[in-house]
Amino acid sequence: MPDSVIRPQPVDLTEARRNYTPKADLAEAKRNYDYDMRRYLKHSSTIDVSQDPVALAAYLTSAYHAIEKGLAMEDTRAGFGLDKIRPILAAITELERVGEARFASEGARGCIQSYVRYHDDRALPLPAEFEDELRAFTKDMAGKTFPGGATPWTRKQIEAATDFDFSRFIQTRSSVRHYTGEPVAPEAIENAVRLAIKSPKVCNREMRRVHVAYEPELRNQLLSYHNGNRGFGHKLGAVLVVTVDLREFDTIGERNQGWIDGGLFAMSLVYALHASRLGTCMLNWSEDCDRDKQLREAFVIPDYEDVITFIGVGHMPEEFEVAASPSPDIDRVLSLISLR
Ligand SMILES: Cc1cc2nc3c(=O)[nH]c(=O)nc-3n(C[C@H](O)[C@H](O)[C@H](O)COP(=O)(O)O)c2cc1C
Repeated sequence: MPDSVIRPQPVDLTEARRNYTPKADLAEAKRNYDYDMRRYLKHSSTIDVSQDPVALAAYLTSAYHAIEKGLAMEDTRAGFGLDKIRPILAAITELERVGEARFASEGARGCIQSYVRYHDDRALPLPAEFEDELRAFTKDMAGKTFPGGATPWTRKQIEAATDFDFSRFIQTRSSVRHYTGEPVAPEAIENAVRLAIKSPKVCNREMRRVHVAYEPELRNQLLSYHNGNRGFGHKLGAVLVVTVDLREFDTIGERNQGWIDGGLFAMSLVYALHASRLGTCMLNWSEDCDRDKQLREAFVIPDYEDVITFIGVGHMPEEFEVAASPSPDIDRVLSLISLR
């Protein structure tokens, strides 16, 4: 190689990586995991059944979801979901008694209506031990239809609804870091949240929450707690804080579920905003427990919510650039699973 060729200076890569982000020793890692664990165990129903109506509504949703799943299956046997019926009726009654009759109790009522109708339409016997209770319960609802049960769809409807260039839609979404600074209309955010609510959620429990800041001063204060919006944060039109409500969870197995459901929801939100021609950039909340506490001290984010991510939203200029962010080949991502 000729002498004139300039080679990269040797660098201690381990040292460079160590300096890239602060490192945690085991005690520090444990302190952070303990913070997450304490909050999960305090607010979920993992150890003790929480008496909070939100937790009861979550339980009710999981229970009636077992019934609505049965109603949506190809082959359903008469009297299915036996062990769920009485707890469902009791939970509806209790939520209504404490004035918390909302989406969960209404969905459960709709599901019970459909359950009885399912049996009656097919001349199948209702479980003998609850037949009277079920009949009395549905009689009380006579003339009122609640949402819930099973919804019919045809393949044609799905074909018509998916007759657009999804690939183009996906490929034209990028994280945008160049905005005009115009305000974002609250209606646009409301509409996107309404659509994102349709994303899947474990046992249909609604644990996702969004806190939004529109006003520039408030937005900037919020962003001052976040690393990674420098150069564009001040030109956003709205900042969303996506959280999940830990009161909706009830098993140790669900200890990480919020990150999944919250992440799925955040992605749908971003796609819904893309569909309404707003630019977005997810803004990570990959913070340690001290930073998390500071955010909660400054803003009203209930202790029972975990912050999943921030999302910056804004209007895009006529022309702008996005980071290429190349993707690897599909075989880096997709492989056949095999037995050991
Ligand atoms: C949860 C999450 C947090 C992110 N946080 C930031 C951030 O703080 N700042 C930023 O500029 N980009 C952030 N991004 C954007 C990623 O850098 C970007 O999604 C990735 O490079 C792929 O590029 P694309 O979104 O343009 O396809 C985040 C993405 C995700 C999914």
